[in-house]
Amino acid sequence: MHEETIRRTEGFVRERLAGEASGHDWWHVDRVRRTALRLAEEEGADRVVVELAALLHDVADWKFHGGDDAAGPALATSWLRSLGVGEDVVAHVAEIIAGLSFKGAGVPTPPRTTEGAVVQDADRLDAIGAIGVARAFAYGGFRGQPIYDPDVAVELHQTAERYKRGAGSSVNHFHEKLLLLKDRLNTESARRIAAGRHRFLEEYLERFHAEWEGRA
Ligand code: ADP
Ligand code: NI
Repeated sequence: MHEETIRRTEGFVRERLAGEASGHDWWHVDRVRRTALRLAEEEGADRVVVELAALLHDVADWKFHGGDDAAGPALATSWLRSLGVGEDVVAHVAEIIAGLSFKGAGVPTPPRTTEGAVVQDADRLDAIGAIGVARAFAYGGFRGQPIYDPDVAVELHQTAERYKRGAGSSVNHFHEKLLLLKDRLNTESARRIAAGRHRFLEEYLERFHAEWEGRA
């Protein structure tokens, strides 16, 4: 029963995200699902809720739905109901998706359950390390922002509104979000994985600026 639900959800998400070029493609979802299941094992979270929430977490992100925060949870809810999934699981998955997104340096988004904690951590781990670097520049290109502009200051957004409207560069995004993530994780298992990925981001930036300034 669960296997069938997961298999069909996988097909639904794969089809919806085909051709996505902003770093929210199917393979992002697949990596988040695999990392989330690994964290679920270590943290003792419910695997079915975690896998369904990970698979559905980006089906209708606010960045692509005119700022509508409710679109993702609503779509996940109708999809899971159409498969006959129990209301408790449906509500839990919708709640996890609704609370997942990073909304600015000064905006806390703590999940209520262990399942929410591991899915949020898995999504955030995919934003750092070598893959995080690739996704930041992919998303920046998608948005039409420069890779870097030394004249534009870093802004540590204090509200979700300002974060959404932020118009900096991809390198500023490292300071506005990526470098903050290791201290915004919920679980010890994720913090262990984050350490090496965070170091890579720092080394990457050091090298980037060294080349920019003609020191390397
Ligand atoms: P989350 O999954 O936490 O909501 P997002 O959907 O905001 O993350 O971001 C998806 C990917 O795009 C991440 O790797 C993120 O760092 C990157 N990204 C988001 N906003 C920007 C931006 N303004 N500039 C560059 N990269 C960005
Ligand atoms: Ni995501």
